[in-house]
Amino acid sequence: MGYALLSSPFADACEAAPFAGVCALAATRVGLKDFRSYADSELCVAPVPVVLYGPNGIGKTNLLEAVSLLSPGRGLRGAKLASVTRKHSQGESAEAWTVSAVLARPPHGEWEIGTGYLAPAPGANQRRVFHLNGAPGDAGELAELVPVLWLTPAMDRLFLEGAQLRRRFLDRLVFALVPAHARKSARYERASSDRLRLLREGMRRGGWLDALEKTMAEDGAAINAARHEMIDCLNAELSARRAEGAFPCAHLHLAGEPGDTSPDAAALQQLFVASRERDAESGRTNRGPHTADLEVMHVGKQSDARECSTGEQKALLISVVLADAWLKRKRHGVAPMLLLDEIVAHLDELRRAALFEEIVALNSQAWLTGTDRQLFSPLDGHAEFVTIEQGHFATQDTARA
Ligand SMILES: Nc1ncnc2c1ncn2[C@@H]1O[C@H](COP(=O)(O)OP(=O)(O)O)[C@@H](O)[C@H]1O
Ligand SMILES: [Mg+2]
Repeated sequence: MGYALLSSPFADACEAAPFAGVCALAATRVGLKDFRSYADSELCVAPVPVVLYGPNGIGKTNLLEAVSLLSPGRGLRGAKLASVTRKHSQGESAEAWTVSAVLARPPHGEWEIGTGYLAPAPGANQRRVFHLNGAPGDAGELAELVPVLWLTPAMDRLFLEGAQLRRRFLDRLVFALVPAHARKSARYERASSDRLRLLREGMRRGGWLDALEKTMAEDGAAINAARHEMIDCLNAELSARRAEGAFPCAHLHLAGEPGDTSPDAAALQQLFVASRERDAESGRTNRGPHTADLEVMHVGKQSDARECSTGEQKALLISVVLADAWLKRKRHGVAPMLLLDEIVAHLDELRRAALFEEIVALNSQAWLTGTDRQLFSPLDGHAEFVTIEQGHFATQDTARA
C-alpha cells in the first residue's frame, strides 16, 4: 500500500482485543465537531463491527453519515455538505463541520483521517477538505483507503423510483472497481452540457461539436464498458452464492435503448451525430449512457424486482450489496465497510443470523443501527454495542468472547 504509516503495526493491539476477531478494515476512533446533532463527541471502539442502538432521533444515522463521509462524495444521505453543519436550537448554524477518525487496517497500520466542510484559509470559500496523517489528502487516495458501502431506508424505493437512482447505485459500486469511472462520468457530463449549449445556439455542424461528441463517445464507451464489467462480475458472484445464500439470488442487467449501453465509441458517436436535431429541439441529450437503467431480476421467482414485495426488494438489495462486498474483498484483499441503517429489523431471524455471519466473515467493520438491541444479540462477543445519550456515546460492556 502506498500510504505512510502513522504507527507501528497493529498486531499487538489485536491480540489484546477481547473480541472473537479483529477486522482488516475499521474505524477505531470517530470524532465529530458541529456535525448535525453532535457538538463535540468522540467514539472509540475496537476494530470490530459496531451496533448503534436506541430510540429514534438520538443520532444513529448521523453517525453512520459521518463514517460515510470519510470517503469522498456526499455520503449516505446524499445531503448538501453545508446542511450537515450543526444548527443551534435558535436556528443559526455553526461555522463548519469536521469528522476525524483513526482508520485501522491491521496488520498494515493506522491512519489519521480528517474531513470537513470548511474554509481552508481565512476568507476562502467553504469546501470539502481531506487530511491524511495531518497533511492535505487527495480524494482518490481516501476513496481507496476507506471503501464504504451502505444500505439505508431511503433505498427501499430504489426499484420504484426513476432510473437515475438505480444508475447512481450502480455507479457507486463501479467507482471502487474502476477508479477512472468517476472522472470519465464527470467529463462526459461536462461535454454533454457544452454540446447542448452549442446546439441551443443553433450550431449543427463543425469541429467544435465533433470534438465534444468524440469526448462524449470515448468516455461514454468507457462508462458503459465499466458498468458491463461490474454487472458481469456481480452476476457471477451472485450465482456462485446462490446455493448457500439465505438471501435471494439477483440477476442484474444494464437496460437501455439499443446503442445507449454500447461500449463502442464509434457507435456512440454516430448516435450523438444522428440526434443533434432532436436534442436541439428538446433541449436535452436524448441518447447515451446517461439514460441507462439497472434492471434487477429475482432469479427464484423469475420476476422483475419492481414486481416484488418491499421485503423481497430489500432482501435483493442486501444480496447485491453482500455480493459486491465479497467481490471487492477478492479483488482488493479487503471488503468495504458496510453501513447498514435500520436493516436488521426488517429481516426474519434466519436472515438476521445469516447477515451477521456474513458480516463477521467479510472481516471489515460493519456499522449497524436499530432501535431494539435484542435483535443484535447474536453479535455479542463479536461487536461493540453503543448507544447515544444527549449527543454523547456510551459503549456498553457486552459479554465478549
Ligand atoms: N444540521 C443539523 N443540526 C442539528 N441537528 C440536526 C441536524 N440535522 C439533523 N439533526 C438532528 O438529528 C436528529 C436525528 O438524528 P438521526 O441520526 O437521524 O437519528 P436516529 O437515531 O433516529 O437515526 C434529529 O433530532 C435532527 O433534528
Ligand atoms: Mg436513523
